[in-house]
Amino acid sequence: MPDNILIAVAWPYANGDLHLGHIAGAYLPADIFARFHRMRGNNVLMVSGSDAHGTPITLRAEAEGVSPREIHDRFHQGFLESWEGLGISWDLFTTTETENHYRIAQDFFTRFHEKGLLYETESEVPYSPTQKRYLPDRYINGECPHCDYDSARGDQCDKCGRTLDPRELINPRSSLDGSTPEFRTRSHFMMKFSEYGDSLLEWLKDKNHWRPQVINFTTGFLEQGLKDRAYTRDLDWGIPVPLDGWEDRRIYVWFEAVIGYLSASVEWASEIKGDPEAWRAWWGHDAKPYYFIGKDNITFHTIIWPAMLMAYGDDLALPEDVPANEFLNLEGYQLSTSRNWAVWVPEYLANYDPDALRYVLSSNMPETSDSEFTWPDYIRRVNNELVGTYGNLVHRTLTFLQRFFDGIVPDAQPDEAGTRLLARVDEALEEAAAEISACRFRAGLGVAMGLAQEGNRYLDERAPWRAIREDRDDAARTLVTILGIISGLKTLLAPYLPFSSQRLHEMLGLEGGIQDAGWVATSPQAGTQLPQPQALFAKLDEEQVLAREMANLGAGAENSDTA
Ligand code: MF3
Ligand code: ZN
Repeated sequence: MPDNILIAVAWPYANGDLHLGHIAGAYLPADIFARFHRMRGNNVLMVSGSDAHGTPITLRAEAEGVSPREIHDRFHQGFLESWEGLGISWDLFTTTETENHYRIAQDFFTRFHEKGLLYETESEVPYSPTQKRYLPDRYINGECPHCDYDSARGDQCDKCGRTLDPRELINPRSSLDGSTPEFRTRSHFMMKFSEYGDSLLEWLKDKNHWRPQVINFTTGFLEQGLKDRAYTRDLDWGIPVPLDGWEDRRIYVWFEAVIGYLSASVEWASEIKGDPEAWRAWWGHDAKPYYFIGKDNITFHTIIWPAMLMAYGDDLALPEDVPANEFLNLEGYQLSTSRNWAVWVPEYLANYDPDALRYVLSSNMPETSDSEFTWPDYIRRVNNELVGTYGNLVHRTLTFLQRFFDGIVPDAQPDEAGTRLLARVDEALEEAAAEISACRFRAGLGVAMGLAQEGNRYLDERAPWRAIREDRDDAARTLVTILGIISGLKTLLAPYLPFSSQRLHEMLGLEGGIQDAGWVATSPQAGTQLPQPQALFAKLDEEQVLAREMANLGAGAENSDTA
């Protein structure tokens, strides 16, 4: 029986381009997981969308003097182009600006309100006396009371990851003009999250398969006691509170964005699948929802969203796993939008191969600790591993086949060593499947590259280019073995390197899309005429890449912080 696997990926704020940190943190691991499960024959639904609301968007709109919608539309369009270029294979990438999402987010509000889970309180809200307006939490900066970080925001501290209330900040100031905010009394709705702390701890008891840092952070957070949280904000951009008299307040962006996972599934069912009930298969009892996010989003996915699902009460599936990644640093420093210390996806795609990036980020994925992207490492991995190990094995084999066998797959059986090696291919497929299923993507890639090395060793040992002169059959046996290994590699690497795997699939004379070929190594049949091979990857000119990229880094840094 195939599993129904929901792949839910963090909704990027539509306030800037995507950079490598986003890709390594959430989108690439999610896509590898999705492609793998589709090839295994499972039913995958992979959704996300642009996070359109909240202060990340209004801050940028204010800085540029345009409407929040204009900011959203511009970057949402950019995201779609980046996904296409990088091969991120969404079933649906939508936005929180759809009518469908408004309806479902408001339905959650109404249900919580009717159940008495939302209660009105007067709360102290930051107000700017200089600008005569209420200030969202995120517009307040100050010192974190927990870790002393001096640029914590009123909603959360990016250093220690704790969620904050702006009143907790030491020495608070407005990010708009640096002035000290007042706190004024306003009516807001609070959500009774406190009622769910125990149920959440109970639910988490069997989550031994979660990454240690995720489960430890989550249980540690809950053990301190889950507090009620304000569900509404003083903003005019976002989803209106569906009650009379509340026209000037909005649902807090995080508490509607997480609902996007459900609303996007519903939208996919009616708009794409053409069966409005089809989403239920990924939200019922036996569904397995996986949430791919960066570590700064953990509490919202392991605590807030599960609590909201419990509160909503239709028995919707809770997360099966939340394999949050750590951060990717760049050349020794944290990525920063304001200092332009980032590699932007559109710029990357204008100059380089998407699979090369997918390879480097996968082999260096920040799964267990922060990791590092550097251009010299990128060049080295592309030239030595992708071109040198994998690409060369393929190219040497396929050009040899053209030269001495007219491109026709010989009719030969592998010898004993070859048979053993081909048994390794099947083992490798199972080993990689176990690693990828457990969200250990670096290890899964390691299995594939280990096989490529074995293939090269075997090819060098057998040296068919020498054997061909005295013993053509021996060369044919070697070739058939290596073709089997290459066939295994294109499957093992398909989730990681979808573009080059498809090209290799075609170079092996196989038809259709590699995603439909299954998690098996299908070698071309004897007698198949293979097309002229093209190199799978291009070697990079080290000097040229370094000259361009090191000059780009940090250039034209802005001062407004829209990160
Ligand atoms: N937009 C948020 C961020 O970039 C992530 C939102 S994830 C969701 O940090 F669950 F809320 F959608
Ligand atoms: Zn802190």
